[in-house]
This record gives sequence, structure tokens and C-alpha cells, in this order.
Amino acid sequence: MIGAVGILVFEGFRSLEHDHSVVASHDDALDAHQHHHQEASSVVHDDHSTAPPVSAFVDPNSPIQPILDLDNIDYAKAKIGWTLFKDPNLSSNNQVSCETCHNLQTNGAELIPVSVGVEGLGERNSLTVFNAVYNYRFFWDGRVNTLEEQLDGPVHNPVEMDSSWEEIKAYVNDSSAYREMFSTAGLDISVDNIVGSIVEFENALTTPNAPFDRYLMGDELAINNAAKRGWEAFQAEGCIACHQGANVGGGMVMQFGYFGQDKTGAERSNDLGRFSTTSKPKDRHLFRVASLRNVAETAPYFHDGKTQSLDDAIKIMGRSQLGRELDQETIVDIKSFLMTLTGDRPTILERLENE
Ligand code: HEC
Ligand code: HEC
Repeated sequence: MIGAVGILVFEGFRSLEHDHSVVASHDDALDAHQHHHQEASSVVHDDHSTAPPVSAFVDPNSPIQPILDLDNIDYAKAKIGWTLFKDPNLSSNNQVSCETCHNLQTNGAELIPVSVGVEGLGERNSLTVFNAVYNYRFFWDGRVNTLEEQLDGPVHNPVEMDSSWEEIKAYVNDSSAYREMFSTAGLDISVDNIVGSIVEFENALTTPNAPFDRYLMGDELAINNAAKRGWEAFQAEGCIACHQGANVGGGMVMQFGYFGQDKTGAERSNDLGRFSTTSKPKDRHLFRVASLRNVAETAPYFHDGKTQSLDDAIKIMGRSQLGRELDQETIVDIKSFLMTLTGDRPTILERLENE
């Protein structure tokens, strides 16, 4: 599947060295994004019953689209998914659940730099499950294209849950509580329906109503002036070329450390990114452009979780992805903008918890 689709790597970005080329490259990036959109819609959303909705109020050409509260969720199915998500019996040592690494009380990720699974320490910072439905590529290296495929990762990974779908199915079959939930939802107990209910739950994990989304929908007062300047800078400096779409990222795979002035990419860690899956030299240190939704809440930053503050993350991005030193004021403004990307906790969680 991955081979047939190919990964969008925006090579044109290498020329992004002076201000003038930023504009040109920016257009290229948007073209590339459009192409990517078409390609993604035939790959990703055919498999989804719930394609992310688009707001009727916002210019469809806006590089960032608001996140909405999904209302076409199959609640009984999502409830099974939620229960499985929190169930440590899905792992080989009965101690690790999805929620161990994706905390639903905080940000859908972990607050520690790298995840700890069945066999102890992993290598990468856990990604949030919130708004994952809006991504076109999954994992830090974008190696799979659907949430269904994504699930095979943690379930089989010896350092995560170290299990298999057949074992999970047998366990679910043995439990009267699960049997009842499946029958309420009108579903057979099959691997497809087990995977499908976790995905249905993930589909509902959107964080709508961020101040910036309200601003996009016409509420001028939803964000302050520093955030407005930050939004301008985010576009003018060229961040938008990579961080765009509903998730302000999540759609492309790019080299971390194009300009290499900082300890990023090669120097930063031994993690070879996408190369680890493809073994193609050009894929060395390629990582998915991180989503910046709720970014103020998802420290520490980058795939290795080695950067603690958002200020530092912005500074590093300026150096490594744009080849320039951002001044302090611009960093503060961009940070103010990024802070307006924090949305509400997914509404389905309140409902499930209070039932
Ligand atoms: C031991 C910790 C751990 C466990 C357990 C775990 N995950 Fe993850 N999860 C991670 C890490 C780390 C990543 C990022 C890995 C990477 O990119 O290589 C991730 C990535 C993801 C992503 C990708 C998000 C994106 O935008 O690409 C989703 C979705 C996800 N996990 C869901 C789940 C589900 C569902 C389960 C339970 C079946 C689960 N995870 C169990 C640590 C964990
Ligand atoms: C050439 C593409 C590109 C450009 C331009 C770019 N970024 Fe990034 N950004 C990335 C990639 C790729 C990552 C993930 C790197 C990793 O962790 O491996 C990332 C990660 C981040 C993160 C960390 C998010 C997290 O949760 O770990 C922040 C914050 C960020 N970018 C902000 C910015 C800002 C602000 C700008 C403009 C000054 C910018 N980026 C410009 C590609 C880009």
C-alpha cells in the first residue's frame, strides 16, 4: 500500500534560502498539498465511514481549516472502542493499555519524552490520538496511511503491547461484558469489528472550538493582537508551507533539519525516521510534519521528545527548516498564535465517562 501511494516529499523546499523564494516555494507547497489531498482522499477516506467534515463558514482555500465536533459517530461502537482503549488485558503482560501511552485525561499523548511499553523504554515520543483522524500519514515517519493499519503497530510491537488480534479476539469472546456491548452495537465479535470500534472511538476524538478556529469562522475577538501578528508571521516566515490543513500539519513527510544549523535530524538522534521502514537513502531523517493542534499542551517536542519549551521548538524550526534566526518578538508572537490552537476536550469523553 505504501509503495503504491508514495510519500509526498516536498523537494522544492531545498531552495528556500532567501525571502523571495519563500513565496514561490509556498505556492509550490500548496499545489503539492492539493495533489496530496486528492491522492489521500482516495486512499484514506474510502476506508472511513466518517470523513472529517468541513465548515461551511470558512473559505475552502484557507490554508488552515477549523476542527469540528463530529456528529456522525456510532456511539455504541465507539463505546466498545473506548473500553478496549483503556483495557490493559489487551497486552501480553496485562499491564499496558493504549491509555498507558495516550492519556485521555490530558492531551491524548504522554508527558514523558519517550514511551514505556511491555519491555520498557521505546524510542519515540508518543503522538496524540486527539485529531489523529485529520492526519493523512500516521506515525512520526508517516509509514502508514490509515488508522486501521496504524493499529497493527502498537498491538504487535514487542515494546508496546506485544500481542496479536487473534489473542485479543479470544479474550473479547470470553468476556460477558464485551459480548453484551457488541450485541448492543449490533456487531459480531470479529477482528474487523474490534479494529473498527477502536477506530470509531478515535474518529470521535476531535478537539473543536479552538480560539483560532472561532477566529477563522469570523469571530475577530476570539484571538488577541499578538496571536494575530503571530498568524501573519507564521505565514510570512513560511511555517505554513509545511504546517497546514485542519491539523496544521500531519499531511507531509519532510526532512527534519534541512538547513542543519542546529542539532536536529542527523545530529540530534540516531533515529533515521522514514529510512527505517524503506531503507532508501533519500528517506534518512524524514519525519512527518507534526500537527500543531493543542501544541501548547503536548510538550515535550519533536520525535525524540528532547525539547521542553515551545519557544525553543519555534526557534529550532526557524533554524532547521527555514535556515534563519527568528527574532525574539517573532517567536513570542508565533507562540501566542500557537496557543490559540488549543481546542476543547473531545466531547465524547465527557459523555462516556458520565454515563
Ligand atoms: C507503549 C506506549 C504505547 C502504547 C501502549 C500505544 N501507543 Fe500509540 N503511539 C505510541 C508512540 C510512541 C507513537 C508514535 C510512534 C511512532 O511514530 O513511531 C504512537 C502513535 C499512535 C498513533 C498515531 C498518531 C498519528 O497521528 O500518527 C495512534 C492513532 C495511536 N498511537 C493509537 C494507539 C492505540 C489505539 C493503542 C492501543 C491499541 C496504542 N496507540 C498503544 C505509544 C504507544
Ligand atoms: C520544511 C517543513 C517545515 C517548516 C517550514 C516548518 N516545520 Fe515545524 N515541523 C516540521 C517537521 C518535519 C516536524 C517534526 C520534526 C520531528 O520531530 O522529527 C516539525 C515540528 C514542529 C514542532 C514540534 C511539534 C511537536 O509536537 O513536537 C513545532 C512547534 C513546529 N514544528 C513549529 C514550526 C514553526 C513555528 C515553523 C515556522 C517558524 C515551522 N514549524 C516550520 C516541518 C516544518
